Amino acid sequence: EQIPLEMHKVRIIQKLFLPEIDQRLQAITEAGNNTFLLKNRDVFLDMLTDSGVNAMSDRQQAAMLLADDSYAGSETYFRLENKVKEIFGMNYFLPTHQGRACENIISQVLVKPGTIVPMNYHFTTTKAHIVLNGGVVEEIFMDEGIEVDSTHPFKGNMDLDKLNKLIDDNGPEKIAFVRMEAGTNLIGGQPFSLENLTEVSQICRSSNIPMVLDASLLSDNLYFMKIRDEQCKDMSIHEITLKMAELCDIVYFSARKLSFARGGGIAIHDESMYKKFQELIPLYEGFLTYGGMSVREMEAMTVGLDETMDMDMINQGPQFIAYMVDELVKKGIPVVTPAGGLGCHLDAMRFVSHIPQNEYPAGALASALYLISGIRGMERGTMSEQRNPDGSEPLSAMELLRLAMPRRVYTLSQVKYALDRIQWLYENRALIGGLRFYEEPKVLRFFFGKLEPV
Ligand code: F0G
Repeated sequence: EQIPLEMHKVRIIQKLFLPEIDQRLQAITEAGNNTFLLKNRDVFLDMLTDSGVNAMSDRQQAAMLLADDSYAGSETYFRLENKVKEIFGMNYFLPTHQGRACENIISQVLVKPGTIVPMNYHFTTTKAHIVLNGGVVEEIFMDEGIEVDSTHPFKGNMDLDKLNKLIDDNGPEKIAFVRMEAGTNLIGGQPFSLENLTEVSQICRSSNIPMVLDASLLSDNLYFMKIRDEQCKDMSIHEITLKMAELCDIVYFSARKLSFARGGGIAIHDESMYKKFQELIPLYEGFLTYGGMSVREMEAMTVGLDETMDMDMINQGPQFIAYMVDELVKKGIPVVTPAGGLGCHLDAMRFVSHIPQNEYPAGALASALYLISGIRGMERGTMSEQRNPDGSEPLSAMELLRLAMPRRVYTLSQVKYALDRIQWLYENRALIGGLRFYEEPKVLRFFFGKLEPV
């Protein structure tokens, strides 16, 4: 048995509470079977997301006390700006309040009605902003990318033939930008290789198309590049990061995942592009030297970016996830393989194969798992899609229940509790039925929609 080993110790704890089953039934019913609507007080292990809930280091906490506060021109901001430039080797930086704020600004500047944004896979908020600005998202993942059961080490790679064809068919001027997402979230936290990023970059550069990296899940992608990518074997984590950034025109990130628990930012090579984005920061985010973040957050980010370059820090999430995935595979429970970053992704398509996709199998599984364990996961499937203008359902390529592994938060015994409960649920999966919306918001419906048993 490959046991993950913590390279840190716990010095502050938060007490947990495991509600009784009848309390859990009441809670999930009131939440409309949507785990986003559960209250934290009703949750035992919160595996909804790693966003904003990764554990902080002692050095981050200490740095927060040294913050220099000011509306404009704080030392704290310049420390952060310099760190971003150093880590990514980029000339310009703009602060934002979180990842989707970067997406708003990038989309407003680069996406014109009728343009196309090819990407290795979409993320919910990314797609929403591109569509809002009149653009169309084209996912050009490799066929292996959406094979849930696979041994491919880089399922986040972009299909180069499809990218070339898309550019040929539409003309480069129709392409607003190409987006590569590190640690590709919605296909199970899967990385791309440095070679793939290099080739995508070459295609973009030869056609004058801006190349954008979503680095929110950079730390997982870096970890996998270091251990799986022949090209990265002799490079330091920082060297890999510099190389990745060099291949892109824009690197943006949600700091809720990368480096800290709040904030975000956009790093840019080119001055003219920087100026276009810059105008929108005071309009939507705040002054240029805080962008919606507090100085305490910015200080912790600065330290967190350095810690992202440390293998003993970034290997914790993926190693715990690999343990969980390997144990599930041993028990014959359907799960996305190979193990990725972010979390462990149960394959609802096979777990509850008796539930049709328009009854949201992954949503039903999320609700059932909470009920029998107090564990909160997140639906990542058809429920997370947006209806077509004609009201029909775009059935998702994958139906996943994501059990996120916030970095350095849960212990191995808690992971074993989760494994035990998932196994019980798998043995009793015939008990799980489908769901239908009784309250369905038009945009990002998975956040606050409510569902009932069919
Ligand atoms: N890009 C990626 C790849 C993300 O995973 C997220 C957020 C965002 C952008 C948006 O950033 O939340 O700071 O506005 N993912 C969270 C999740 C919400 O739970 O996976 P944000």
